[in-house]
Amino acid sequence: MYHHRIVLFYVIILSESTTSSSDPCYDYNTLDEYWRDIRQNAYQYSGHDDSLVEWSGWYRLYLNGESAQMSEWCVSYVGCGGYTGLYLNGSHPTLEDGVVTREVLGNYVWSSQCDNYTSTSIQVKACPGDYYVYEFVKPNISAPIPSYCAVAFQSFSSDPCYNYESLDRPWRATNESGGYVCDESFSWNGWYRLFYYGMNIQMSETCVSPYSCNTYFTLWLNGPHPQIEDGVVIREVCGNYYSGDCCDYNTKPIRVKACPGNYYVYELVNPQIWCSGYCTDVSTISQSISTVSPDIITGSRVTLSKIYLSIYLSIYLSIYLSIYLSIYLSIYSIYLSVCLSVCLSVFFFGNEIQISCLFINVFD
Ligand SMILES: *[C@@H]1O[C@H](CO)[C@@H](O)[C@H](O)[C@H]1NC(C)=O
Ligand SMILES: *[C@@H]1O[C@H](CO)[C@@H](O)[C@H](O)[C@H]1NC(C)=O
Ligand SMILES: *[C@@H]1O[C@H](CO)[C@@H](O)[C@H](O)[C@H]1NC(C)=O
Ligand SMILES: *[C@@H]1O[C@H](CO)[C@@H](O)[C@H](O)[C@H]1NC(C)=O
Repeated sequence: MYHHRIVLFYVIILSESTTSSSDPCYDYNTLDEYWRDIRQNAYQYSGHDDSLVEWSGWYRLYLNGESAQMSEWCVSYVGCGGYTGLYLNGSHPTLEDGVVTREVLGNYVWSSQCDNYTSTSIQVKACPGDYYVYEFVKPNISAPIPSYCAVAFQSFSSDPCYNYESLDRPWRATNESGGYVCDESFSWNGWYRLFYYGMNIQMSETCVSPYSCNTYFTLWLNGPHPQIEDGVVIREVCGNYYSGDCCDYNTKPIRVKACPGNYYVYELVNPQIWCSGYCTDVSTISQSISTVSPDIITGSRVTLSKIYLSIYLSIYLSIYLSIYLSIYLSIYSIYLSVCLSVCLSVFFFGNEIQISCLFINVFD
């Protein structure tokens, strides 16, 4: 019996070690190079040429020690360390997809709009533990100094639907203009809920004409708002100026989440485009209902009120019973004493039949 178990144990370990040696999820090179970050300032780094690197095998991306992924978004004026930032054309695979081939596109750092220079396709795989591995190869592209782009979305410990900063800035509305507020001069950090004089308002998901929202370059969400069941999604942000294209600039992508209570939270970042501002759409104003409390608080409130209710009921019942019983008993004792005196007087002065009748009446 014991022998069987031990043998089985060894077989499992052996089979796991044989699969892990061939699985890129467990056999990869680590690539942690800060200049690959798409959230850098425009033209910040250059000269890191990925076509000069001896690529071999699979790679996992990090940025300053934090798990990162390849960018699916091009960002204006960002070369990811080179002159041409390389990003995936399309979304990452899921765990079930296994190894997939993805097209790689390049964006030249001096152009504001996203170029579609085609580079060599690469293999990508999603791994258990929420990360990806890439089989990077020497990029074959007609644009100069190509470099693979990375982005890290910080994991958050508490639900952003209940941990956000309120941003009631009515001058961000799409029908406002005249002033010039530049969002790149604020220090953005974390998740924000947008208000318009205390009412809910959403970021614009349609093109906004320049100089609206009291800024020069109007920033809008290039994609629909998510549903609650979508969880946290990543959306491109476009900056509109004058070309009539609506997306003259691609600023940093942001994360968005739909929340119970009919509002959204946005993880806004520094757009790093000169005098640009996130726009709120006046056609989406809605009354904000009081925030739905998380389950834990509701749960403890229920237990507390139950305890109070039981204490209240027991005090109430004991007072009620003691008063009721004492009144009842005193009336009953008066009744009995009256009866007794009547009986005794009958005993001494009347006949016995009347006594028994009286006793029956009393105890009915
Ligand atoms: C990017 O992918 C989309 C969808 O798969 C495809 O329609 C488009 O042609 C691709 N773009 C380029 C430049 O290859
Ligand atoms: C790149 O491709 C996208 C669609 O895939 C298109 O909207 C855009 O205009 C193209 N940009 C350039 C500069 O060709
Ligand atoms: C690089 O791309 C060009 C044009 O797309 C193609 O003609 C050439 O064969 C490619 N070179 C390699 C080594 O794949
Ligand atoms: C913008 O729209 C809101 C809501 O419709 C309205 O209350 C406000 O007066 C408008 N502001 C301007 C400057 O038109």
